[in-house]
Amino acid sequence: MARKSLIAANWKMYKTPDEALTFVQAFLPLVANHTRDEIALFPSVTSLATVVHAAAGSNIQVGLQNMHYENEGAYTGETSPIMLKAVRATHTLIGHSERRQYFAETDAIVNKKLHAALAHGIVPVVCIGESLVEREAGETASVLKTQLTGGLSGIAAEQAAPIVIAYEPVWAIGTGKTATPQMAVEAHRIVRAEVARLLGSEIASAIRILYGGSVKPENASSLLNEEEIDGALVGGASLKPDSFAAIVHY
Ligand code: 13P
Repeated sequence: MARKSLIAANWKMYKTPDEALTFVQAFLPLVANHTRDEIALFPSVTSLATVVHAAAGSNIQVGLQNMHYENEGAYTGETSPIMLKAVRATHTLIGHSERRQYFAETDAIVNKKLHAALAHGIVPVVCIGESLVEREAGETASVLKTQLTGGLSGIAAEQAAPIVIAYEPVWAIGTGKTATPQMAVEAHRIVRAEVARLLGSEIASAIRILYGGSVKPENASSLLNEEEIDGALVGGASLKPDSFAAIVHY
């Protein structure tokens, strides 16, 4: 089954609302009529409504970089699924390695967030990936399996269709070191096999697995032309309209 690729921009803690608006205004014409792939922007929370508004009616989808699992409550600094939907955002990243590393996000928390996203009809992009130490110790497969088993716990195949997985090796994020297409494909095959074990082969063959980690215009086509790679989650190279558009047009 042909999977439609998703090319997504994770802006991390960059861009004010004005800067985000300037980006969208410059970016929209560069990708107008682009239907081969889905395109999504993940701005910071203060720019979310601005970006949704600026992209309304276009082929651009918009989501949060992180979302709490409760609808509301005494959780200072957090953003709920209801808040995300109220501004008409549609997607959320879950379990980005920076959330895991700096904010102690565990597979159990990822799992709660995934359940919440699916319950609210929000498209979840679940991020997984091994560190350099884990890769060098030969633990890549076991780390990915553990993250998937924990993250997808209690999810039924019937509800799993919207899930997107992003494979982002931690050692490739923001380092300029990209996984080779062969390394990415190998990891994606491990992920797909584990998804098959957890959710069945039908979901596994349809689920989109994105690659993230130093994706840039120069390496996008070699990665994205691999059949096993169903899109990209782009950090640094997504901050400039020309650069992100070049990746979309890989
Ligand atoms: P870079 O593209 O800056 O390496 O970041 C990747 C990433 O973390 C996307 O979520």
